[in-house]
Amino acid sequence: MTVSVSDHPLIRHKLTLLRDERTGCREFRELCGEISMLLAYEATRDLMLEKTRVRTPLMETTGEILPQKDVALVAILRSGLVMVEGILRLIPTARVGHIGIYRDPATLKPVEYYAKLPPDIAERRTFLLDPMLATGGSTVRGIDILKKKGARQITAAAIIAAPEGLKVVESAHPDVRIVLAALDQRLNDHGYILPGLGDAGDRMYGTK
Ligand code: URA
Repeated sequence: MTVSVSDHPLIRHKLTLLRDERTGCREFRELCGEISMLLAYEATRDLMLEKTRVRTPLMETTGEILPQKDVALVAILRSGLVMVEGILRLIPTARVGHIGIYRDPATLKPVEYYAKLPPDIAERRTFLLDPMLATGGSTVRGIDILKKKGARQITAAAIIAAPEGLKVVESAHPDVRIVLAALDQRLNDHGYILPGLGDAGDRMYGTK
């Protein structure tokens, strides 16, 4: 499995602000979107382009554009939504899918309750988005669902991961690429990432 952790100064700066307990919901959402956009910028460096002709005000020349079926973004609800918003600003032609998975607080196991994906996902580069890759359960379940629908070139993007979760994803799906803003120390007994940033969904939406 390829795991890349960004060392971009803008991402590291924004991540520090994101971790800060004093950061409010609105700024938290903005930072998540911006970090996701920067991660996507790095993770799409190898996208294929098609040749085209373009007329400038002065003359015709050759150009390159993304193919019509380029990227699918799949948010794991609910905190993956803010990552989608950030990346759509960079790739507005991307199609968007949603997967509903929550973590049972007692067992910490993922429970799936919703999945709606672009029908042509097999022809697109697919990015599975969940800001916190903690136990790895939701990511593994999300990738299972994507593969069942035919997705082949899958990248899982997270803002922060724990080493324990990465191992789980690697053993279930060694073919999937992972892109991260940070790889943190470990999980605590409740499955939260340390030092982490707390509960991403609650901090985004002010539900705690
Ligand atoms: N989900 C979160 O929002 N935060 C964690 O630390 C782990 C899972």
